[in-house]
Amino acid sequence: MKIPFVDLHAQYLAHREGIDAAIAGVIERSAFIGGEAVARFEAAYAEHYGIAHCVSCANGTDAIYIALKMLGIGAGDEVITTAHSWISSSEAVSQTGATPVFVDVDDFYTLDAAKIEAAITPRTRALIPVHLYGQACAMGPIMEIARRRGLRVLEDCAQAHYATWGGQRVGTFGDAATFSFYPGKNLGAYGDAGAIVTRDAALAEAMRMYANHGQLKKHEHRIEGINSRLDGLQAAILSAKLPHILDWTARRQQVAAWYGEALAGIDGLELPKVRESATHVYHLYVIQHAGRDGLAAHLAERAIQTAVHYPTALPLLACYAARGFTAAQFPRAARNQSRILSLPIYPELTREMVQYVADSIAAYRCQP
Ligand SMILES: Cc1ncc(COP(=O)(O)O)c(C=O)c1O
Repeated sequence: MKIPFVDLHAQYLAHREGIDAAIAGVIERSAFIGGEAVARFEAAYAEHYGIAHCVSCANGTDAIYIALKMLGIGAGDEVITTAHSWISSSEAVSQTGATPVFVDVDDFYTLDAAKIEAAITPRTRALIPVHLYGQACAMGPIMEIARRRGLRVLEDCAQAHYATWGGQRVGTFGDAATFSFYPGKNLGAYGDAGAIVTRDAALAEAMRMYANHGQLKKHEHRIEGINSRLDGLQAAILSAKLPHILDWTARRQQVAAWYGEALAGIDGLELPKVRESATHVYHLYVIQHAGRDGLAAHLAERAIQTAVHYPTALPLLACYAARGFTAAQFPRAARNQSRILSLPIYPELTREMVQYVADSIAAYRCQP
């Protein structure tokens, strides 16, 4: 049996008619940049997600940058974020001229709320909790610290569409929240795409303006901005897919439950833990094993694709070498980076496929 890490084609085949019609409609109207399809998706996503405003942009990295800029973050400021994630959160902080300050992860792979206070200095302006792999950060404690210390909160929801903490959706806690609709994300476009959501109308307007050359009306540039726009094709595809996101999320959770049963009791394996107050939407299903690379090679031999998210903790990447970080400063992230392995997970995975992956992992454990 062949098990790819993701299978975007299977999803396309299941929803081909709606997606093809959406694409044809945009081409028919030649509404490639901005226009009705973009406005429709923004309104639909805000309503479906349950938040007042959605501002679309070119990708999830720009979304973080645009939000930080319009929250007034810049040179001389510090922004606290997680030590183990995709680089966008820290990269966007640096892009604004501010300095990313890394805090280690907790047992759930997310920003450790208990370690935030020690990282706060007089220059700290904001926190970026990243809801990594699809699980919410401890948003209660994080928001309490932010309120008490007067910090802005920008949630990175790129991997966590519709995840919740305490029954509330991620992305609705902070000042603003960013989403990526990269093709492999839980809600994915057919190219790069992103959005920012917020309750704050003035912030939404500022972000919309900044993302479109500083203009709300053509040729009225109130500020200098950037060009980070969602294109009509991506917006139409996302609108066609949006009605299915909760079903797909439930299927991911079902696949994770199957993995949980099938992998239980295999020696030396650590399965993902779910925070008591959270729902996990399983963008990724990440296990740990001391012999991670050997296990990955063994699974590859059985045509099972895996991946590592991410092989190097952010502070230990070459691009931050000048700051002299050490592994001892981020013990959990540093330990996880050589042990974590992401197994295939997507709505179309069957129980039989999950069992094949689990049996293959068990067989590795049995080898001398
Ligand atoms: C946690 C996280 N943040 C931000 C991003 C950036 O999204 P994009 O690739 O759309 O720029 C990603 C995407 O990989 C991500 O996983």
